[in-house]
Amino acid sequence: MASTKVLVTDLSSGISQVPLNYVRPISDRPNHLAVQSSDHSIPIIDLQDLNGPNHSNIVKEIGQACEHDGFFQVKNHGIPEKVIESMLKVSKEFFQLPEGERLKIYSTDTSKTVRLSTSFNVKTETVASWRDFLRLHCYPLQAYVHEWPSNPPSFREDVAQYCTNVRGLTLRLLEAISESLGLQSDYMDKALHKHAQHMAINYYPPCPQPELTYGLPIHADPNAITILLQDDVPGLQVLRNGKWIAVNPTPNTFIVNIGEQIEVLSNGRYQSVLHRAVVNRNKDRISIPTFYCPSPDAVIKPAEELVDKEHPALYRSFTYSEYYSKFWNRGLTTEKCLDTFRAFENNLDA
Ligand code: OGA
Ligand code: NI
Repeated sequence: MASTKVLVTDLSSGISQVPLNYVRPISDRPNHLAVQSSDHSIPIIDLQDLNGPNHSNIVKEIGQACEHDGFFQVKNHGIPEKVIESMLKVSKEFFQLPEGERLKIYSTDTSKTVRLSTSFNVKTETVASWRDFLRLHCYPLQAYVHEWPSNPPSFREDVAQYCTNVRGLTLRLLEAISESLGLQSDYMDKALHKHAQHMAINYYPPCPQPELTYGLPIHADPNAITILLQDDVPGLQVLRNGKWIAVNPTPNTFIVNIGEQIEVLSNGRYQSVLHRAVVNRNKDRISIPTFYCPSPDAVIKPAEELVDKEHPALYRSFTYSEYYSKFWNRGLTTEKCLDTFRAFENNLDA
């Protein structure tokens, strides 16, 4: 009866093969042998002194990581270990709730502000992915917290604590990123207009044939910046120079990556890098990305200070809501959603 299950969490137990709709074409499988594994695959930046005398050096480090890697880790970020532990614990408890309890909030409607779903977008995709996810809007907190699951009982409190802390860290990073581009320190803050913060709690159950499918296929993040918390099970891989690099978990660090909106705002100087998540045979895995976003009405365009004769505007201006509906409707692919917002090449020397 496995095929009647909606969520992979419930489908995965007791099967020895993945159902056919999860099997990727041979040309698009996660060749685990070709993946490079290195602890220092992406820079790790110590934020301890971000507000101290070493400020400008740390800003420079952040700028270089954004420009060359698109991904970095941060340590001494100021978010208490207890807040992180509670977030991971309550997330795991949520996915251990009885199936019927979880299915109460199941939805495939991508416009819902709270929903449990599976894969990426079951309405538009042709091959499914080995992931369930709970998606929440979290800023402004008072507007959304009452919609969140009330089971497990500590869910709202633990998640609210976590979101508030991550928002604080994100605002510090946005300031540093603005400065690193030579912009006013509140540039990103203003560009995101009223701001929005979404979160996914990704749950990847053990998978009997991890070489045939993905947890999440290749994609670039659609938002401004992502702050990812992962548990102690590896799975995230980042594409660099055509090669996949595993970003293995380091306790008490977050992974930060540039999303497509900062790519536009920086006029392409900072790139949103393609990445994916693979699954494994023995362990379930939780990852919790915070997607920090512009508000839907924000008009996104390259910063004027970063546009000149040698650096023509690479993207046209658009509202975040226009971009966001396109992102969900087209599915995850190697071609970035942003490519459909490129400016005409009207600045070529002729
Ligand atoms: C995402 C993502 C990576 C992971 O949710 O956008 O890239 O490791 N997740 O789960
Ligand atoms: Ni992502």
